[in-house]
Amino acid sequence: MEYSEKVIDHFMNPRNVGEIEDADGVGTVGNEKCGDIMRFYIRVEDGVITDARFKTFGCGAAVATSSIATEMVRGKTLQEAVRISNKAVMDALDGLPAAKAHCSCLAEEALHAALRDYAQKTGIVIDGLKAPEEHKH
Ligand code: FES
Repeated sequence: MEYSEKVIDHFMNPRNVGEIEDADGVGTVGNEKCGDIMRFYIRVEDGVITDARFKTFGCGAAVATSSIATEMVRGKTLQEAVRISNKAVMDALDGLPAAKAHCSCLAEEALHAALRDYAQKTGIVIDGLKAPEEHKH
């Protein structure tokens, strides 16, 4: 099983680790099978995600996917962010071993959970936002 250089880099030097105090959206998700947990925080200003941070209790690929996901959503509009799929996260890392694909699903789910939290708090509708059970991978 081979990891790309990008996966190793984001695992060894994860970007944007931590919390956002009074975040506009927070989402926590877990995978029952492996027990890994991911929490995603977003700051939203004028419809744009200006900050994203994460805390992940999980495997190396879960750390790497959440790290790169925070980089991918920063500066994006809500509509752009909601379209970031687990596949896009995997591509940005130059791929993941097949057995680790579910780790990127966790990143997509955590992002959607944070967006859902934001949408619920503000009443803003984000087209394409998935419900928890809609993340089928
Ligand atoms: Fe489950 Fe990586 S092993 S998220």
